[in-house]
Amino acid sequence: MKHSNKIILAHWLTILLFILLFLTNSCREWAEKGSDWRAVWLNLHAWLGIGVLLLSCIRLISRLTTSKITSVYNSKFMHTLHAIMQVVFYILLFIVPICGYLRFSSRGHMLTLAGQSVPSLIEKSDWLHALGKLGHGEIMQGVVLTVIGIHIFAALYHQFIKKDNIMARICR
Ligand code: HEM
Ligand code: HEM
Repeated sequence: MKHSNKIILAHWLTILLFILLFLTNSCREWAEKGSDWRAVWLNLHAWLGIGVLLLSCIRLISRLTTSKITSVYNSKFMHTLHAIMQVVFYILLFIVPICGYLRFSSRGHMLTLAGQSVPSLIEKSDWLHALGKLGHGEIMQGVVLTVIGIHIFAALYHQFIKKDNIMARICR
């Protein structure tokens, strides 16, 4: 059984956005501190992250409203593990960008779009910044990369060793 078209599109667009998010973060780090370029890369990073959040909303609604996809596993243990991994993914897909926004706006940064500032949803705040850093710092980076690494490894294992053609479930 295949995932719905919306899920498939959101899955591959999210991967593209994740690559761009890691790239823009690196470009920001390479840019000189206090320079205009550093602010430009951060703003771009923030908008790409908001894109992930919007896609995750569509994806979650689609997931909850379309018929349940069957598991590729027969064993109850693997079935549960598979479900847990997907829940972990969905939690990360919301927590990471929301904490990114907290880290960004609690320092008084303003998002800009076509030269115009977008009003912030939160005030400057030390505790919100600390919370944002907790869910959007080096620990988050490690967790996200580990979960994605396991996911890709599992996909490759299924596709090439178990040969159950799992990729067809997430391709049009
Ligand atoms: C799923 C989406 C996102 C991913 C995968 C992501 C990824 C990252 C990564 C890997 C870092 C470096 C963390 C560190 O070394 O401390 C970072 C930093 C940051 N991100 Fe994101 N990000 C996302 C969304 C967002 C959003 C939506 C915003 C703001 C609206 C944002 C704002 C920031 C800020 C302010 C920093 C810290 C920059 C600094 O050190 O001054 N991110 N992000
Ligand atoms: C090249 C990288 C990737 C490959 C080859 C890949 C492969 C797959 C495959 C084959 C499935 C179907 C599994 C099934 O139906 O049981 C799937 C589902 C899924 N993948 Fe990936 N994936 C990749 C990257 C990512 C990334 C970066 C994320 C999240 C940040 C992600 C999140 C998910 C989620 C949540 C599902 C469940 C379907 C859904 O509700 O969207 N994947 N992936």
